[in-house]
Amino acid sequence: MKLLLCICFLSIAVSAMAEQDVDQILQDGNNKFTAKMFNEVANANKEKSIVLSAYSVMPPLAQLALASVGESHDELLNAIGMPNDNVTKAAFSSANSKLRSTKGVTLQTASKIYVAQNYELNNEFAAVSRDTFGSEVKNVDFSKNAEVAAEVNAWVEDQTNHRIKDLVDPDALTPDTKALLVNAIYFKGTWKIPFQTYATRDKDFHVTKNKVIKVPTMYNKDTYNYTESKELNAQILEIPYEGDEASCVFVLPREVDGIDELAEKLRDPTALDKAMSNMHEIDIEVYLPKFKIETTTDLKDILQKMEIQRLFSPKNARLDNLLKHNSNLYIDSALQKAFIEINEEGAEAAAANVFGISYATSAILPKFYQLFMADRPFYFAVKSKSLTLFNGVLHGV
Ligand SMILES: *[C@@H]1O[C@H](CO)[C@@H](O)[C@H](O)[C@H]1NC(C)=O
Ligand SMILES: *[C@@H]1O[C@H](CO)[C@@H](O)[C@H](O)[C@H]1NC(C)=O
Repeated sequence: MKLLLCICFLSIAVSAMAEQDVDQILQDGNNKFTAKMFNEVANANKEKSIVLSAYSVMPPLAQLALASVGESHDELLNAIGMPNDNVTKAAFSSANSKLRSTKGVTLQTASKIYVAQNYELNNEFAAVSRDTFGSEVKNVDFSKNAEVAAEVNAWVEDQTNHRIKDLVDPDALTPDTKALLVNAIYFKGTWKIPFQTYATRDKDFHVTKNKVIKVPTMYNKDTYNYTESKELNAQILEIPYEGDEASCVFVLPREVDGIDELAEKLRDPTALDKAMSNMHEIDIEVYLPKFKIETTTDLKDILQKMEIQRLFSPKNARLDNLLKHNSNLYIDSALQKAFIEINEEGAEAAAANVFGISYATSAILPKFYQLFMADRPFYFAVKSKSLTLFNGVLHGV
C-alpha cells in the first residue's frame, strides 16, 4: 500500500513538472515566433502602423505539422519551437484551456476546417484537430467559390465580433482547393483603470522629426508598472486589463525617430521580457493616443521569409496525413487580417465621476509623477498569461 501511494505521488509530481516545462516551451516558442514575424511584417510595412497576431498563426502551423511528414514536418515544428509531436499536442491543449480562462477579459479562439466534397480528413488528423485544437470540420463544394467564401467569411465575422471581414477572396478558391484551415482569435478587455473621456485631447504626435500631426490623446495619472530600459533605450509601461491576467505593454523609444532601432532590438526574442523583469509600481502620468489599426498580412510571403518554405511548394510539401487517400497537397495561399482598437473603454461608466475626479487629483498633495508621453511612434503588445497575443507599432494615425 505504501509503495503504491509513493508511486502515485511521484507520478503526479512528474506530470506537474512536465506541464510547466511544456508551458515554458510554448512561451519560448511564442516569443521567438512573434519576434520573427513582427520583424518581417514591420519590414514589409515600413513607416506604417501595423498589428499582427503571431500567436494565432502558431496553432494552424502546429496542426499542419501534425499532418505532415519528413522534412516538411520538421521545418514546421522547428519554426514554432516545438521539439516533437507529443509536446506540440500537450502545449496547444494546455494553452487553449488556459487562455480561455483568463480572468476579467473575453478571450476566444476558434478553428474550423473546410474540406472539399467527397474528401475526408485522415482519421488521426481529424481526432487531433478536434481534441487539441477544437477544430470543427465541414464539407463544402469549392466549385461554388462565391458561396463558400461568403460562408467562411460569415463564420470569421461571428468569431471576431464582426471586426474581421472578407478574409477569404472567392477568387482564391479554385477547383484545386481541397481544404481551408481557418482560425480566429478575439480579445476584449476593459482597462482596470479606465481613461476618462473628458481628459482626452488632441495633442501633437511626432510622426518623424519633421512631421507633427494632432491625434486624440488619452490621459491618466495613476500607479502602473513601469521601467526604463537602457538596452532598449526606451520607457516601458504595462497597463493591466480587469482581472489582472492580461495587459497591454507599451514601449516608447526615447528618441522621436527611435522606433526602427527599437524594432531591430526586439528581434532578440528575450529582449522585452528581460527589460520587463525590472518593472516596478510607480506613480505616472500617461499620455496615450487612442488608435485603431487594421493590417492584412500575406502570410505566404511572410512565412517563407521565416524559413517555412516546403509547405508552400507543390513539390516539397508533404501533407501526407491531412486527407484520406490524398497526399499531393500544399498550401497555395495564406493571409492574416488583424485589427486592434485602443480607447478609453469603460469611460462611459466613469463619466459620472468626471468633475469629481478632476477636482480630486488637483487637490492631492504635490507628488512626483513620472511622465509617459506617447507622442512618437511606439511598440505595443497585448499579453495574457505570459503569451504575446497581438503586437504592433503605432506610427501615426
Ligand atoms: C508520444 O506519446 C506516445 C503515446 O503516449 C508514445 O507512445 C510515444 O513514444 C511518444 N513519443 C515521443 C517522441 O515522446
Ligand atoms: C505590477 O505587477 C505585479 C506583478 O505582475 C502585479 O501583481 C501588480 O498588480 C502590478 N501593479 C499594477 C499597478 O498594475
